[in-house]
Amino acid sequence: MPADLLSGFNLCGHILRNRLGVAPMTRMSSVADPEVSLFKTKAEWQGLIQLLAAESIDAVSVSTYDFRAPGFDSDLTVAQLTRAVTDLPLMICGKIHDRDSAQAALEHADIVLAAKSFLLNPNFVADVREGKALPLHKSSGANVAYMPTPLP
Ligand SMILES: Cc1cc2nc3c(=O)[nH]c(=O)nc-3n(C[C@H](O)[C@H](O)[C@H](O)COP(=O)(O)O)c2cc1C
Repeated sequence: MPADLLSGFNLCGHILRNRLGVAPMTRMSSVADPEVSLFKTKAEWQGLIQLLAAESIDAVSVSTYDFRAPGFDSDLTVAQLTRAVTDLPLMICGKIHDRDSAQAALEHADIVLAAKSFLLNPNFVADVREGKALPLHKSSGANVAYMPTPLP
């Protein structure tokens, strides 16, 4: 039974009020190829996660474009592949845009993250709390965030 999206979570002593967070958004350019990956197989991916988990890390955040998509050469999502080899707190993102998709993503993760929905809707958390129907934003909508040159 997945946890409720609006329930709290103790992340290594930091008490989170709910399980919805902001996905990584540090990239300055929208030129990104979702097909590019350092890993070709699930074994390579899971091997890296096992190496990281043996170190002193607090959580694993998986920055994907679609949390429902199968990972690598498998029928499982990247969250499922990751969960299979570690019990560390796990965060997932990609096409989480409303209450239902956020709750569904908690099936195999502890915290769910969104990028475009936070970027393009300042009321995102309140809207999710209310269970409003919310749009799935296109990548082109995020172009407002990109700058031609890095910040000094
Ligand atoms: C403006 C912007 C910058 C991003 N920068 C990064 C980044 O630096 N590192 C990263 O792993 N993902 C980055 N992403 C990808 C997001 O973390 C996320 O994987 C992706 O947008 C899918 O989530 P969404 O459907 O909620 O937008 C960026 C996304 C956006 C919109």
